[in-house]
Amino acid sequence: MPLVNMKPVLAEAKAQGYAVAAFNPVDYASMKAMVAAAEELNAPVIVQTSAKTIKYYGHRALVEWMREIAGESPVPVVLHLDHGKDLDMIKKCIEMGWTSVMIDASEHPFEKNLELTSKVVEWASAAGVGVEAEIGQIMGVEDDMVVDEKDSHYTDPEEAERFCRQLDLAAFAAAVGTAHGYYKGEPDVRFELIEEINKRTGVPMALHGGTGLSDEVIQRCIKLGCAKINISTNLKHVFIDSFVEYHKNNPKDYEPLRVLGAQFEALKALFKEKIAQFGGTNRAGEVLAKVA
Ligand code: 13P
Repeated sequence: MPLVNMKPVLAEAKAQGYAVAAFNPVDYASMKAMVAAAEELNAPVIVQTSAKTIKYYGHRALVEWMREIAGESPVPVVLHLDHGKDLDMIKKCIEMGWTSVMIDASEHPFEKNLELTSKVVEWASAAGVGVEAEIGQIMGVEDDMVVDEKDSHYTDPEEAERFCRQLDLAAFAAAVGTAHGYYKGEPDVRFELIEEINKRTGVPMALHGGTGLSDEVIQRCIKLGCAKINISTNLKHVFIDSFVEYHKNNPKDYEPLRVLGAQFEALKALFKEKIAQFGGTNRAGEVLAKVA
């Protein structure tokens, strides 16, 4: 089926108390593995391209791959831009067929963030595209941008409420103690902050930094209103490790398609594990009824 807007997908997930898995693809096969995993579980899924992936392949290749992959699948698939910082890139995503975009203007003061996000919401809503926006700065490395612990700051719930009240958002990303990349120790996730932000905004929360969170943390976050959970680092490791491992176990096998096949299966297994853990199994039908 055609790619779907993220807004009704996340509204439905929040209403039903689960989260939609969002993965950052690195190539055509990883996109295909995401949709294959969702299909096997009859679940919705979000394929979210990082800015550097767009710079590497170009908008056209990515959107055409995703149109083809989603077009052949019966489950709802969102094509989302993760951490969009460049307005030209965001605009091009909207024009070319992404069904959701993130504007991350979180490094700016509140008023500037609001102004930039409002502009993107205006373009996106005219095109039937969902928007994710952020307040507060999430720790870690994303798209080669490093946010140190000292520079990161938790989201102010009062600001979050003012921000979300003025914007029609599909998802709200907040800095609540999770971080991009692997955690060094136990993350200090602020559950009371997640709860307060959700109560004040009512907007489905996007939980960044999903790699390495315990199941207990994940389930608490979902209960408190997180309806989208991002996984990138985990995927990158499985992508490389599965390739290397296949070669280690089969040093004489120089058939690339068999190596790629092993990599595809490893990625699909990861995606299925996450989709199921976040509660997405067998939710495709209800979501389709909302996006139709
Ligand atoms: P991880 O690095 O924890 O996988 O987080 C990914 C993410 O939040 C992308 O925006």
